[in-house]
Order: sequence, then C-alpha cells, then structure tokens
Amino acid sequence: MTDSLPVRVFADRTEASRTLALEVAALVRAINDSGRSAVLGLATGRTPLPFYAELIRLHEQGELSFAQVITFNLDEYLGLAGEHPESYRAFMSRELFDHVDIPAENIHIPDGTVSPEDLSAHCAAYEAAIRNAGGIDFQLLGIGRTGHIGFNEPGSPRDSRTRKVELDPITRQDAAPAFGGLDQVPEHAISMGCGTILEARKIALLAWGKAKATIVREALTGPVTDQVSASFLQEHADATFYLDAEAGSEL
Ligand code: F6R
Repeated sequence: MTDSLPVRVFADRTEASRTLALEVAALVRAINDSGRSAVLGLATGRTPLPFYAELIRLHEQGELSFAQVITFNLDEYLGLAGEHPESYRAFMSRELFDHVDIPAENIHIPDGTVSPEDLSAHCAAYEAAIRNAGGIDFQLLGIGRTGHIGFNEPGSPRDSRTRKVELDPITRQDAAPAFGGLDQVPEHAISMGCGTILEARKIALLAWGKAKATIVREALTGPVTDQVSASFLQEHADATFYLDAEAGSEL
C-alpha cells in the first residue's frame, strides 16, 4: 500500500462519520476565526448521509454554523430540474441545507437544466466561482464501483475540469433503484473534473460496505491511472480514506 495516502478504518460508518464531522467543524471554525468563509466541496449519494446527519447534529448543538460557509457540489444529473426528487439539488436541500443556517446564495450546484448551447459557459462559470471563492478548503468524496470520484468515469483525464460527462453503465445500474428503473436514469451529468477535485486543499473519501472493498483496494494500492479516477488521490498531499471495516476488508 502507498504510504502517501492515509487510510483510517473504523468499526462502522457512524463512527467514521462522527470523527470526520468533528474534524470538518473544527476546520470551518478555524477558517472562520481567521476572518474568511470556509469553502466546502460536497458529494451526494448514499455514502455521505451519516456524515450530513452528524453535521446537522453539531449545528443543532451550537457547535457548527454554516453562516460563513460556501459550498460547491461535485455534480448534477443533466436533464433534471432542482424540483426532481433525484436531482442532487433536491438531495442536498433534504439531507443538509434545509437543516442548517447556510445562506442560499452560498450554495453552488451545477444546473442540470442548462441548455446545450449554454453548457460550456455554465461549466466555465462554475470553475470561475470556485476560483473566486478562493478554492476549495475541504472536499468530500464518495467512490463509485467504477472508481469514479464525482462522475469522472474511467478515461477521465487527470487534468479534466467541470464538464458534461457520460455515465458508465455500472453507475446507471447502481442508480436505477432510486429512479424506479434503469430507463429513468439520466445518461449524462455535469461533473467537476479530476483536476478541479485535486486542487482542493484537503480531501476525504468515504466508503462503506463490502461492495466498495475491491475498488477501494484498487484506488489505494493499484497504479495511478485514469481507469480508476480515485487513484489520482495517491498523488494528493492531503487526502485521506475513511472506511468502515467492510470497505477496508481487502486491504
Ligand atoms: C456523488 C458523486 C459520486 C458518488 C459515488 C458513490 O455526488 O459524485 O461519485 O459519491 O457514486 O455513490 P454512493 O455513495 O451512493 O455509493
């Protein structure tokens, strides 16, 4: 295993999420105390749910305010409006934003309804907004069974930026139950690129369960390759994997 990429294996996802939530809360407070807003890159999917539950708990206990937090989500399904329950905008409202004190104008999620003509300008504006915010202080990631981070499927270049991507058949299959059938799952998304993600100053990748064990091992111990975009994290100065025992079982 590479010793440049720290791995922390916890008894279960609750303990892992609680630990990371305390660390992120401390980071936000430290950055706010230094006189600026904290910039968080956020993920959707099943994996971050217990982490967001912990952030909400810390907020309710008065230990974490989002008043000076700016967020950028990794991705959004192309073709879905924010009102669609499976859109990542709806997900983020439901699972985090509706429960904390984040100003609406501080929330950034790619617009899944952008027209084909406006798409590249929209992606460039997303990149510019990240830069104007001062870059991402902390990026949260899950990992797909294809090894994707964001929706950077196999073949996504190391220096890719926010753009339209085609979802891998495995990724669409994994999303099918939530959409009520494969034919309902969008074929494309807008995703931050590998290059965008790798510029975050601090990164945590979370993975739970047996189904992630093989791809976690490949990402951590396999070659750095665009066939497993999470393997690029091996070259990041401050990226850590937070695993439960099952996701870490092949290490
Ligand atoms: C979500 C995202 C994806 C997911 C990955 C894992 O914003 O960018 O990379 O993190 O597909 O999904 P779950 O957590 O549902 O297994």
